[in-house]
Amino acid sequence: MQRGKEHEMRPGTPEHKELFCRIFIQTHARYEPESLDWPVLGEKDLELLRALPIWDTLWQVERNAGVMVTDFGRRQKDPLIREALEVQGYEEDRHGRLIGEMVARYDLPAKSHEPDVLPTEQAFIDFGCGECIDSFIGFGVFKLARDAGFLPDSLFSIFSRVLSEEARHITFFVNWLAYEHAQRPLLAKPAHFLSAARGYYHGVRNVVNNGRLAASGSAPSLPGGDVFEGLTVTRVLGACLTENDRLMAAFDSRLLRPKLMPRIGRVALAFARLLERSSPRDERVDVKQTEEEDGRAGTESRAGEDLQHSVRP
Ligand SMILES: [Fe+2]
Ligand SMILES: [Fe+2]
Repeated sequence: MQRGKEHEMRPGTPEHKELFCRIFIQTHARYEPESLDWPVLGEKDLELLRALPIWDTLWQVERNAGVMVTDFGRRQKDPLIREALEVQGYEEDRHGRLIGEMVARYDLPAKSHEPDVLPTEQAFIDFGCGECIDSFIGFGVFKLARDAGFLPDSLFSIFSRVLSEEARHITFFVNWLAYEHAQRPLLAKPAHFLSAARGYYHGVRNVVNNGRLAASGSAPSLPGGDVFEGLTVTRVLGACLTENDRLMAAFDSRLLRPKLMPRIGRVALAFARLLERSSPRDERVDVKQTEEEDGRAGTESRAGEDLQHSVRP
């Protein structure tokens, strides 16, 4: 059940710290990447998977995060925050091992080197802000790809675990950031605020750089890329917001939620709808059709998820 902002706990109190740390630790799922139910893929799916230009970056980011978050956690004085951060570090390391398992199992063209990120508070803030941005985009892209049948659903089931964990991570992060901000003396608060601003700036810059790389044509074309034909800005933003709301609704209503990206997403969606409404009539028909398809896909997707949840032990 999701309730309004008035039910969020005041950041900085011992009760707030207990809540966001305990919930995070208690919702940790036990599994090992090598024992997951990996599907056997056909040549077409393997070709598609190998053509995705993401594996190097994804693998390295997760490996770096595993070491950085674990070491940063070990340096914390507060035992509860230390425990929660070590759990996150373990989960990030496991994401790295999960990508490594995929690389080995499906012979993906990816390399990774030993992590070399210093475990500073700024590194953790940069990483957390980046996760808030990347996860919001990733939620929508994942939903659209799954609805389009881009790859076998059994593979998406494995990745939905990772997305659920990322939703936990960014919820933990915004609560930790607000708690730490409230703990700072008044004169130290502006510097802490600037650290977070720097983190979001770095996150946005990474997204823009990756977008430029894709737009420059240096990214390879995908063998099954036509499944995304007909995508509009409104569909992508709508999917990001819908999935974000669905995943965030699972958390205790007293916890803070990541708000920046959903707010930016809602404003961008309103603008995109205005622009699409002002486009020529035949394009408006396409938009209307797309919105109707969105509704159907969303209903089917949710029905599928509900079914999965009902049969999950
Ligand atoms: Fe991760
Ligand atoms: Fe994460």
